[in-house]
Amino acid sequence: MDVLAIDHPLVAHKLTVLRDERTDSLTFRSLVDELVTLLAYEATRGIAVEARTIRTPVAPASGVHLSQPLPLVVPILRAGLGMLSGMTRLLPTAEVGFLGLQRDEETLQAITYANRLPEDLSGRQCFVLDPMLATGGTLVASIDYLLDRGARDVTAICLLAAPEGLAKVEEAVGARGNVRIVTSAVDRRLNERGYIVPGLGDAGDRLYGVV
Ligand code: URA
Repeated sequence: MDVLAIDHPLVAHKLTVLRDERTDSLTFRSLVDELVTLLAYEATRGIAVEARTIRTPVAPASGVHLSQPLPLVVPILRAGLGMLSGMTRLLPTAEVGFLGLQRDEETLQAITYANRLPEDLSGRQCFVLDPMLATGGTLVASIDYLLDRGARDVTAICLLAAPEGLAKVEEAVGARGNVRIVTSAVDRRLNERGYIVPGLGDAGDRLYGVV
């Protein structure tokens, strides 16, 4: 499994403002949007393209177009929704499917409560949007689901990751191949409540307010 923590001053700057407890929801949402677009640029480096010949006003030229089937973007509800527009800005023709996974705060296990995804994902390149890779339960369940339905590869884009979550994803699905994690930083650890330290708190609450 490949893990890529993006080392870029703009990513570090935006992440620092996101982490700051004084950052309000409006600023938080627009920073997530900007940060995801930067992460998406790296996350799509291996996206499948095919050769295409076109004519410029001056001469024929060879280039590329995204291959079929088009990539599938899968935000994990609820907090992954806050990452969707930053991703589709870069990949406007991608299809979007939804998975609702919630972690049980007692057991920290992932529970599926919504699913709007095609049954057959043969040959699809999938991009999972999950802001916080904490215990890894949600991400393992999502990646398993996509690979079981034939996805060609899965790249998870996470704002932050914890070493414990990365180890769990590696152990559970790393050997299935074609799994990649792209994140802005790998933080120190999880606390006893399963929160990333220092992290940024509850991403869903900071995006949408507490419900
Ligand atoms: N989910 C969050 O929103 N934040 C964490 O730190 C861990 C899981």
